[in-house]
Amino acid sequence: MNYKELRNKYIQFFESKGHKNIRPASLIPENDPTVLFTTAGMHPLVPYLTGQLHPEGKRLVNFQKCIRTGDIEDVGDASHLTFFEMLGNWSLGDYFKKEAISWSFEFLTAILGFKTSQLHITVFEGDNDAPRDEESAGIWEALGIPKNHIHYKPKEDNWWGPAGKTGPCGPDTEMFIDTGKEACSKTCSPGCRCGKFIEIWNDVFMQYNKNDDGTFSRLSQQNVDTGMGIERTVAMLTGKKTVYETESFTEIIAKIEELSGKKYGESDWVTHAIRVIADHTRTATFIIGDERGIPPSNVGSGYVLRRLIRRAVRYGMKIGINKTFISEISKVVIDLMGEFYPELIQNKARILDELEKEETKFESTLQHGMNEFNKVADKLLENNQNTISGRLAFKLYDTYGFPLELTKELAVEKKLSLDEDGFHKEFEKHKELSRTAQQQNFKGGLADHSEETTKLHTATHLLHTSLRKILGDHVQQKGSNITVERLRFDFTHNDKIDDETLKKVENMVNEQIKKDMPITMQVMTLEEAKKKGALAFFSDKYEENVKVYTVGDFSMEVCGGPHVERTGVLGKFIIQKEQSSSAGVRRIKAILVKE
Ligand code: SER
Repeated sequence: MNYKELRNKYIQFFESKGHKNIRPASLIPENDPTVLFTTAGMHPLVPYLTGQLHPEGKRLVNFQKCIRTGDIEDVGDASHLTFFEMLGNWSLGDYFKKEAISWSFEFLTAILGFKTSQLHITVFEGDNDAPRDEESAGIWEALGIPKNHIHYKPKEDNWWGPAGKTGPCGPDTEMFIDTGKEACSKTCSPGCRCGKFIEIWNDVFMQYNKNDDGTFSRLSQQNVDTGMGIERTVAMLTGKKTVYETESFTEIIAKIEELSGKKYGESDWVTHAIRVIADHTRTATFIIGDERGIPPSNVGSGYVLRRLIRRAVRYGMKIGINKTFISEISKVVIDLMGEFYPELIQNKARILDELEKEETKFESTLQHGMNEFNKVADKLLENNQNTISGRLAFKLYDTYGFPLELTKELAVEKKLSLDEDGFHKEFEKHKELSRTAQQQNFKGGLADHSEETTKLHTATHLLHTSLRKILGDHVQQKGSNITVERLRFDFTHNDKIDDETLKKVENMVNEQIKKDMPITMQVMTLEEAKKKGALAFFSDKYEENVKVYTVGDFSMEVCGGPHVERTGVLGKFIIQKEQSSSAGVRRIKAILVKE
């Protein structure tokens, strides 16, 4: 079975159990500048796990592109990918453990053909926050999983979420395949990293909310959130040792072999380098080619992208590729995956262009690094010193992308020694800093469907309609980005908007707030919504059924929400800035203040 068949079978199976197939979401979370990437199918569904109504109902299924970078320097082993695809099915306050587990079992055995004897299951052992999950264990046992294949594990292993600091979470039950490899020790069990057991699927029972103070409270509804890794499952189905040997990678690796003249498997370091190049190029292609794609930069997700491209280039040099090559590999990725992610085909020119630009830029950065190294080395030698400091080695690494090995080689050539401990100390310091920064990011991130952002969301609808009433119907939303502090709204309009007109827009929004109008929501088909006159400018992104939010008699717009109940709570609306965003698109930044 290949990844295409697995994807189709999964979707069909859950459709036959009453699930609605929803589109994969963007890799760059919308309205959430504080989270770098979508890391699981549940991310875009957070509001619906906490009680909002999903327009497609209570049972959903999809495949989702995901990125988990963690520490990029660790990537390249046999089982970790920075980009992967996740199959998922969800119950939003509908079915719970019995159905979820029974369907997982049925899909694994009857549809995929795994034998019961190959399956190992883990369940939550219980603690002060939530009880031991004997219910799940009992369901597995009743389905025929022997007791000695069911393992109780603590929170580190069998609890999922919240994705940020607070939010929906719960105990999970994970499904592992026994690869048949010999156990590494007497205590080897699912979760051990030796490679005997490979996790392929996770059913999370999201019935808790983690609160700000670290306590857990019950959610208003019981949800199921599941995630199956496509690449790993295909590897297990086809008897491959690693995800890199599956069909998702065959052609990508063949291209790297062709460009480098090296063979996957010829030696450990070549295999490792080829994996890094394959993985990173795939991820970079998806980040740039996303519907909300971004270019490499020095901040946030753009910085992760830059590091991925540069690391791939570096490994390419290592295996002897001596020309610009990343875009060549990217073309193979686009050909392979464009069928499922048409945005890659639509954005092909942009993807290839950005990759080529970044690769060329990196080559010149490396040259600068080389000059910097030579300068410092010559000075040291002049002063009869002989050690390259950890700090310089780290600067070469961080600013110029020099791996430690390269600095070491250069040092040897100059007959200098290198303070490796010092380098590692700097490295750890830096890691700690970026970890803290990331945690900060998460804090304001996913869990943030706060009062402030909800208000700004409603204000955005009022602004959109006001702009159309004042400037004309050519105004169409092009983008919206909301943080706790402000809204940012991009829309089609050619010219700068003068202060007087901006004031009119601002006044119109404030009048609607004063009227304290109710906001109501209805679910209908996109066609019905358009017939009723609802604004809907992202047609290709909507599902069949949509939510339509109506603000009094003023505005009607297709939107996922959330929104406040009455406009009166918004306070005072103030436009802070009006500027150009791109050709024919203007941008307004605005805030709400308490009256
Ligand atoms: N959110 C869970 C996971 O990522 C299930 O999808 O494993």
